[in-house]
Amino acid sequence: MTEEAKLQEFEARVNRGDKVEPGDWMPEDYRKNLIRMISQHAHSEIVGALPEGTWIPYAPNFKRKMALIAKVQDEVGHGQMLYKAAETLGVSREEMINDLLMGRATYSNVFNYPAETWADVAIIGWLIDGAAIVNQTKLLLGSYGPYARAMERICYEEGFHLKQGYDAICEMMAGTKNQRDLVQDALNRWWWPIMMFFGPRDKDSVHSAQLMRWKVKIKSNDELRQEFLGKFVPKIRAFGLVIPDPELRYDEEKGEWLFTEPDWDEFKRVIRGNGPMNKERIAVRRLAHDEGRWVREALERFVEEGKMA
Ligand code: 3HC
Repeated sequence: MTEEAKLQEFEARVNRGDKVEPGDWMPEDYRKNLIRMISQHAHSEIVGALPEGTWIPYAPNFKRKMALIAKVQDEVGHGQMLYKAAETLGVSREEMINDLLMGRATYSNVFNYPAETWADVAIIGWLIDGAAIVNQTKLLLGSYGPYARAMERICYEEGFHLKQGYDAICEMMAGTKNQRDLVQDALNRWWWPIMMFFGPRDKDSVHSAQLMRWKVKIKSNDELRQEFLGKFVPKIRAFGLVIPDPELRYDEEKGEWLFTEPDWDEFKRVIRGNGPMNKERIAVRRLAHDEGRWVREALERFVEEGKMA
């Protein structure tokens, strides 16, 4: 078959909703873009555990501590599942992690901001994991089998992450004025990074056209952002919280949320390594990687010896 005929057959398959499996013929651009996207997702899961992980020793009580430990443990597990999915495309975990540590790969913008109070931990669980669920429930329907199947477990566990965050918000909003003020302060700081979480506007998206053509992305960045706003703005306002965007409103005629344009220069600065916490996040990630080397080497030797036995 000519390359053109293979491409036509591939596109007919993904348009039918078939899953592409490791070893199937796939366009090289499909493979490369999936490695980029899945490895970034994996990096984001593990780096994303850092802002919350720092709060485990300071959780306000044993129940919150246990829930946060379970969530952080889940996130690291999600990262491992996603590295595994990316490895099926012919890239090694070591390569992916070196790309991250050398600044050649990025991770989600939101994890480069500091979690200043316990209210940040609650907002992260409720709204960032809520945004992740909006995104990841569509990736579940994606064309690449190992990625879509990893989403099944990840989406299930994200449901718990959202609930524990929302439960903490409910408790704080039913608490003292100081607690309510802490939640409002956290919302003020996290709202705009969350608005950028879904990526640049569709007109500025580099990869969406190809990823949507080959059914890796089912919804565009703007469609996901609109879905998030529709799901969460009414809930946020029901608490009496004020979203720090005076332009935010639902336009019945257009059938969409109107909002102030996020600061895409900040977005570019942050994803290029110049956010408030980028350097610290990568330093911690590098430390863990270096200090865990002996475990990886011991496992490799164990596997080698097992093969030779
Ligand atoms: N943070 C960092 N970089 C981002 C970004 C974000 N929020 N959104 C977009 N970008 C980058 C893209 O990677 C691309 O840069 P690159 O060419 O150097 O990779 C550039 O901005 C242009 O963006 P595009 O719209 O062209 O990129 P995509 O088509 O890949 O769309 C995306 C961006 C929507 C984030 C998509 O990659 C995606 O859905 N990824 C999988 C989901 C994911 O990675 N989520 C991260 C969070 S994990 C998490 O939420 C943990 C949870 O427990 C909280």
